Formats: sequence, structure tokens, C-alpha cells
Amino acid sequence: MIRLLYFSQAMNPISAEDVQDILQVSRRNNSATGLSGVLIHGGGLFMQVLEGPEQSVLRKYVKILDDKRHSNCQIIYITPTNERIFEGWSMGVIACERSFEFQHILDLRNQRKEVVRAKVFKEAMHEFLRRLKAAP
Ligand SMILES: Cc1cc2nc3c(=O)[nH]c(=O)nc-3n(C[C@H](O)[C@H](O)[C@H](O)COP(=O)(O)O)c2cc1C
Repeated sequence: MIRLLYFSQAMNPISAEDVQDILQVSRRNNSATGLSGVLIHGGGLFMQVLEGPEQSVLRKYVKILDDKRHSNCQIIYITPTNERIFEGWSMGVIACERSFEFQHILDLRNQRKEVVRAKVFKEAMHEFLRRLKAAP
């Protein structure tokens, strides 16, 4: 399996309807192809983690790249893995309205020119998982 994290810029301000549309399709497709992950959005940015079988993740990422609802996709982190962080989430969602919530994830992007350390990445993701689990 692999885990991939990318950032992208929304083409238009992200509405609740846009997010619902993406999630509906994602939840259907992702469970069928063994993908799990989370979609974080806010401030005109998307950030998504996709994890699952290598071929499924890469095929899906290539498809997502073509989606006109966003642009400037940048892979921040990609790693082989044999465990899922987002087990059971065909696609979780977090709205980050307040910039401080997004900040420690945005920091990963700023580290992209260097190497994002696995420990830093895992801690950031586990923090998001805690938020997901705390969500109603
Ligand atoms: C930010 C973003 C994230 C997306 N994530 C997923 C995803 O995890 N799974 C998925 O199937 N489609 C996702 N999509 C939608 C795909 O780009 C594409 O529209 C969809 O996979 C097409 O599904 P279909 O072939 O069943 O019509 C995403 C789109 C955007 C803009």
C-alpha cells in the first residue's frame, strides 16, 4: 500500500455543495477500490490524503488531477506503508475555517523543499484523525 498527501487550490470558493458532491462520489468509488483517506478544505485550499493499494491510489490521483474544480496539485508526501491511518474512512472530511487549524498541515507544505519526516507527517495525520473521531 501507499499513502499520498497532496495540496491543491480550489478554482472557485469552495461551497458546502461542492464538498458534498466530491464526498458522495468519493465514498462510493473509494470503498469499491480499497481507498481510504481524508479531505481537508478551507481558505481556498484542498488537502487530501489517499491511502490504499498503490495502483488504486495512483489511478485515482491521476483522475483527480484532471478535475476542473481545482488546480496546482502538489504532492507533499508519498510513502509505502502497511497500515492505514484512516482505516474505515472511505473519505473523511474536515472543514478548516480557522487558519490555525490548518496551520500545522500547511507547515508540511512549507517543508516540501526539504524532506517531510515520517514522524512529523504521522503526528499531523493522527491529530486530524482525532479531530475526525471527535466530529459528530
Ligand atoms: C479535491 C478533490 C478530491 C477528490 N477526491 C476524490 C476521491 O477521493 N475519490 C473519487 O472517486 N473522486 C474524487 N474526486 C472526484 C474526481 O476528480 C472525479 O470527479 C471522480 O472520481 C469521477 O468519478 P466517476 O468516474 O465515478 O464519475 C475528487 C475531486 C476533487 C476536486
